[in-house]
Amino acid sequence: MTKNQKLLNWVNEWAAICQPNNVYWCDGSEEENQRLLDEMVKSGQAVKLDDKKRPGSYAFNSDPSDVARVENRTFICSEKKEDAGPTNNWKAPAEMKAEMLEKYKGCMKGRTMYVIPFSMGPLGSNIAKIGIEITDSAYVVVNMRIMTRMGKAVLDVLGNDEFIPCIHSVGAPLEAGQKDVRWPCASNIDDKYISHFPETNEIWSFGSGYGGNALLGKKCLALRIASNMAKREGWLAEHMLIMGITNPKGEKKYIAAAFPSACGKTNLAMLIPTIPGYKVETVGDDIAWMKFDKDGVLRAINPEAGFFGVAPFTSEDTNPNAMHSADKNTIFTNVGVTPDGDIWWEGIGWDCPAGTITWKDKVYDPASGEPVAHPNARFTAPANQCPAVDPAWEDPAGVPISAILFGGRRPSTVPLVYQAFDWNHGTFMGSIVGSEVTAAAIGLKAGVRRDPFAMLPFCGYNMGDYFGHWVSIGKNAPDKSKLPLIFNVNWFRKSPEGKWLWPGYGDNIRVLGWIIERVLGNVEAVETPIGLLPKKEDINIEGLKGQAELMDALLEVDKNLWLDECELIAEHQAQFGESLPKEMKEQYEQLKARLA
Ligand code: GTP
Ligand code: SPV
Ligand code: MN
Repeated sequence: MTKNQKLLNWVNEWAAICQPNNVYWCDGSEEENQRLLDEMVKSGQAVKLDDKKRPGSYAFNSDPSDVARVENRTFICSEKKEDAGPTNNWKAPAEMKAEMLEKYKGCMKGRTMYVIPFSMGPLGSNIAKIGIEITDSAYVVVNMRIMTRMGKAVLDVLGNDEFIPCIHSVGAPLEAGQKDVRWPCASNIDDKYISHFPETNEIWSFGSGYGGNALLGKKCLALRIASNMAKREGWLAEHMLIMGITNPKGEKKYIAAAFPSACGKTNLAMLIPTIPGYKVETVGDDIAWMKFDKDGVLRAINPEAGFFGVAPFTSEDTNPNAMHSADKNTIFTNVGVTPDGDIWWEGIGWDCPAGTITWKDKVYDPASGEPVAHPNARFTAPANQCPAVDPAWEDPAGVPISAILFGGRRPSTVPLVYQAFDWNHGTFMGSIVGSEVTAAAIGLKAGVRRDPFAMLPFCGYNMGDYFGHWVSIGKNAPDKSKLPLIFNVNWFRKSPEGKWLWPGYGDNIRVLGWIIERVLGNVEAVETPIGLLPKKEDINIEGLKGQAELMDALLEVDKNLWLDECELIAEHQAQFGESLPKEMKEQYEQLKARLA
């Protein structure tokens, strides 16, 4: 399949360490995909869904211990600890490699070692990065085929060039005659490792078969490794959706938005506007790579080829475009399977049929109080099946970004929307993003945590230096007048009684509408201590019953709450010590002064 000697040597080396039964090079073909899926159905790992209801689609249930990312077992292994920074787990590369090599020895016994050539970004484009993932999981192969451009064509483009080596094992060797379990993984959390070596561009993952831990092109390569490359080369690798918005006058603008995991990126990227005349188109729902073009315009590409979306509460009401993306050729993980071979999850929009098998492989029992789908259940669907996919979604030149949004789940304090005064203030807004914790990672304490730029789990180097990188992007922009405007949004503000103050979902177009008007220079804003807020009358709430009475609360900037917030920000900033850029300290001082 390849004459790339470095690649051949690397595969041989790992085969000698992991001792698989055989080594298989994935070509990415339809035939290969079907064969792997058929094998997994036969072995009981997968359920084939009904061909009329969900053509070409399959359901998998993970081991109950392997349902989300494991942040406390995710490591940035730079030579120096300070380069990983205070928010990442660190171990020296040599030490980590020695420890993990012991685990990898013989770890693929009784299994096949798959070699997956993949491209993040359109195949052959000069911004794309090629990785090779070695894995002993066929589930990983069929998911990577949806999430990336995968197979033989990648090797043809690679030729003799460099690639990013990614090694993955579920960490569950089989003795001769031993029967496999349905979802092999390391049973002990301390035997799981998601390790990154940013100075040598390597990824070593062990013990987990779950998405972000095992599909190494996604969070590991396109964010943790790519954020290091971006820092070195002067661009941005971000946990952001990318979408196009056309207003009723036919003017189209693209925006990017960073919200923490399970905080609404997929939903916003695929939004169906509730105000007539607007149109939204999807470029990406999770990751953006952004660079200045020769005219000084910041342009974004989506390095992925599919969506790995949160299933629960995705419905025909909340996100029809996601539902239709997953109509066919989709892999479902940890959802319920109905007796007629369809899927079910909480909030799907219809009642759970009797006899549905839950993600824990039990017959659905409403009296048990146990959910049918895991809260972090996911669908893996090809992006080109999204009814609203943007015509430019695969354009190697990327799309021009006019605005950048930050946001999280903030039940209080943070208003529906506000705009930064300038780039550094916007960088500060990104650096203080906070959110209530969600189910996307295992073992986090409930409550609001800081998740700067929604990158806390994904920044592959010192977060203080990362803030500095954002400052430098603004400072060194070829044309500052072309920099995107920066906003913060909060769909999740609640009343004291705990009720949402904002309808969210398709009605978020009402806020995007104001943002686009700001970009076009058509509307004035109100200056407040925290930033520029809309005038109440400039958010279109036509047709929303009872919303008018809630707008004061939604747009309120309570100085006392913000002074409390300042104390938390000071604590947050303090952890970065010397690596906190002076510009961020200044922004904090200025905010406090404006609140005084
Ligand atoms: P990752 O894939 O983990 O990075 O998450 P994401 O940011 O793409 O999150 P997603 O869009 O899948 O949303 C996760 C959850 O947030 C779902 O349960 C949604 O129902 C809920 N959600 C999304 N948008 C809104 C909104 O506008 N309002 C409210 N109240 N909930 C929302
Ligand atoms: C997230 O947790 O932000 C995800 C899912 O997008 S995963 O790919 O598992 O990281
Ligand atoms: Mn994500």
